[in-house]
Amino acid sequence: MSVALASGAAVRAPLVADSRDGLVAALAEAAQSRAVVMTMGALHAGHAALIRAARREADHVTVTIFVNPLQFGPAEDLGRYPRAFDADLDLCARERVDVVFAPTPDVVYPGGEPAVTVDPGPAGSLLEGASRPGHFAGVLTVVAKLLHLTRPNVALFGEKDFQQLVLIQAMADDLDFGVRVVGVPTVREDDGLALSSRNRYLSPHQRASALALSRALAAGSAAAAGGPDAVLAAARAVLDSEPGLRVDRLDLVDSTTLLPASSGSSRLLVAAFVGTTRLIDNVAVPLPRLDGQPPSALAASPDASPRKA
Ligand code: PAF
Repeated sequence: MSVALASGAAVRAPLVADSRDGLVAALAEAAQSRAVVMTMGALHAGHAALIRAARREADHVTVTIFVNPLQFGPAEDLGRYPRAFDADLDLCARERVDVVFAPTPDVVYPGGEPAVTVDPGPAGSLLEGASRPGHFAGVLTVVAKLLHLTRPNVALFGEKDFQQLVLIQAMADDLDFGVRVVGVPTVREDDGLALSSRNRYLSPHQRASALALSRALAAGSAAAAGGPDAVLAAARAVLDSEPGLRVDRLDLVDSTTLLPASSGSSRLLVAAFVGTTRLIDNVAVPLPRLDGQPPSALAASPDASPRKA
């Protein structure tokens, strides 16, 4: 089946599977070189960037759409998490996705909540894991299952969920998943707001307040030469000047260990509530190295400044 784009051009619609057998059938003819992009739906230009990156890595692209109950705490927004399946399928068609796997919870968890889950290790209790106990066990468990079900060579995840990316990378390495995990830079609106499915909860006034997150990260990153205290103080000053925000976390951590950073390749992460919506964002921070060498290329590429997809 094909679908018409706004330009009038017709593209082949993705094969859509909502069952395990359907997925096996949809993947039967798939190319050897396969990528997966995992999502919880409500797709936006950030997901499109992931899909395009996947296309550069492999001949066949599967997108999964599944709002994973296991990664939401009892007081979190599982019930109101945005669902937009028809629009999601349109985006997947426009991006020439080959297969969309959109299962229901009973397909992913046929026996109910699993007794065996993936332990994210000590780094899973830091940062977001401290604010959201159990979150990363839920994330890694579903990611492990979806990797087994979709059997890709490469899986792509956004740097916006930086701790998630680090933990998925560690799971794939430590447990020999045989899949390459690739991080994709955060996509931002022109004014710096990191794209997120949760942005659609924001009123125009709240959206204006939310801009303080990327401004704070840019200020922190710009203060890198002054060391960790200067970075945190610069970011905190911006956040404190925005009355519409309630800061949940502001952390400067080593990009690999996620422990508090003192030098070298580091990441500044922020989580804040705007109204009842919890937003997260992060940026690379090139802290001076103790040996006087320049910071690594990754840490030196600040990505919180406004730019387009
Ligand atoms: O980043 C997300 O959207 C989710 O955490 C993921 C990786 C799809 C797992 O549910």
